[in-house]
Amino acid sequence: MQEIISKLSQEISEVTISTKGQLEDFKLKYLVRKGLIAQLFDQMKTLPKAEKPLAGKNLNQLKSLAETKYNDIAKSLENGASDRKAEVDLTLPGRHAFLGAEHPVQKILSEMKDIFIAMGFNQAEGPEIERDDYNFTLLNFPPDHPARDMQDTFFIRKDSQSEDVVLRTHTSPVQIRVMMEQKPPIRVICPGKVYRNEAISPRSYCVFHQLEGLYINKNVTFADLKATIYSFAKQMFGSNVQLQFRPSFFPFTEPSAEVDITCYLCGGKGCRVCKHTGWLEILGCGMVHPNVLRNCNIDPEVYTGFAFGMGIERTALLRYKVGDIRLFYENDLRMLEQFI
Ligand code: DAH
Repeated sequence: MQEIISKLSQEISEVTISTKGQLEDFKLKYLVRKGLIAQLFDQMKTLPKAEKPLAGKNLNQLKSLAETKYNDIAKSLENGASDRKAEVDLTLPGRHAFLGAEHPVQKILSEMKDIFIAMGFNQAEGPEIERDDYNFTLLNFPPDHPARDMQDTFFIRKDSQSEDVVLRTHTSPVQIRVMMEQKPPIRVICPGKVYRNEAISPRSYCVFHQLEGLYINKNVTFADLKATIYSFAKQMFGSNVQLQFRPSFFPFTEPSAEVDITCYLCGGKGCRVCKHTGWLEILGCGMVHPNVLRNCNIDPEVYTGFAFGMGIERTALLRYKVGDIRLFYENDLRMLEQFI
């Protein structure tokens, strides 16, 4: 009997129990009414009288050893610790965490914004659903002026009773909003989405981004405009870049110009991207038309200013050598993951 008791006592001390299932087995083996310890108590009756006291003492010790172990482990499993530990396989490989990234169009836009903000421009925003007069009339497009045909417009509301509402076709209406609200000096950039009802192709899409710039103050000249655009272009496209200002027409600027940079894929030698001209157009600009200033209650005899507007996707296409503008709008992870 002594031998059995000390064997069991060793067994109980050494057994490891880490789940509720194992604990239940332990109880069934040692502690229930038909368990090993109960059986030993039964057998004790058959022992010679002289051996009974010692056997009884040892058996009681064995029983309390088993009970204490049972209670302690039950308590710690209740707290959950070892149970969970047993269920987690620490050798499993970790789950792959997907990293988010800025969209390539937003990356280019942030670079542009940083350059202008460092020059002292503030940021202004306007709505994408815009009043017709802000998008056209106040920008010096008369109601039936053919210049309106330059942009294929999405109309939100068009009837003779009320004012037309459009999806803005450019960010220039934000100029109007800013000039209506602020007194010169004004120095703002207005980034945002614009919409055009154009045939969709690798080079044009129905929605894209523009960044508009506006500077109004006393004595602002075309030289200030040129200096600003030069400084921007060198920071954005590299210090070796060359620029050309080509006379152009916009109803809201006079004089107006379009600006080209030397193609930064071929360095001006001529390639497929610049259509073998060596030049890439990057923006439109000019001196704000006196009518536009007047429309916003700014006296053109006192103040002058310049404005410019550029497309963002065009730069993103070139910078990242993406062949199709639609890829920026399809949210295909195989494309976007390349910008992480
Ligand atoms: N709004 C013109 C466009 O969408 C771009 C532009 C040209 C903006 C000249 C200007 C500007 O502010 O002065 O094509």
